[in-house]
Amino acid sequence: MHDIGKITQPHPLFDGHNISAEEYLEVKKHVLAGFDALKDYYLFTALCAGLHHSVFEKGYGLKADVFPKEWHMGTVKKILEISAIISICDFIDAFLQRKTKIKDGSDKKAPDLKGMLYKKYPEDHKTIDIALKKYKNLGFV
Ligand SMILES: [Fe+2]
Ligand SMILES: [Fe+2]
Repeated sequence: MHDIGKITQPHPLFDGHNISAEEYLEVKKHVLAGFDALKDYYLFTALCAGLHHSVFEKGYGLKADVFPKEWHMGTVKKILEISAIISICDFIDAFLQRKTKIKDGSDKKAPDLKGMLYKKYPEDHKTIDIALKKYKNLGFV
């Protein structure tokens, strides 16, 4: 659901080739497309979709000022936490399954998956540890 915006984009962007810088700019649009598709029906989910690439260094997508002013801070916190979980699991999934380069350069900052995640999500080490443990228990890491 978090990547639903990708259905609005040309299929060749996701055929497994190393995409160009221009193609990457196009791929980045999936977050706002996903937010637009969901916002009138499932605002909570729409915000998670729109923020799932915003919660790391050099992130993109919605900014934190999109939350309705009347929303309780606890709801905002929950959405940001879910967005971080989506983003971390998405990164692990991509690292384990994709053959293509990691476009944001995360792979150059640290030599291993945990190191990459720790650099990319400095405030979410506990979530990373839990996610890696889950993947390990499932036999993926
Ligand atoms: Fe995404
Ligand atoms: Fe994704």
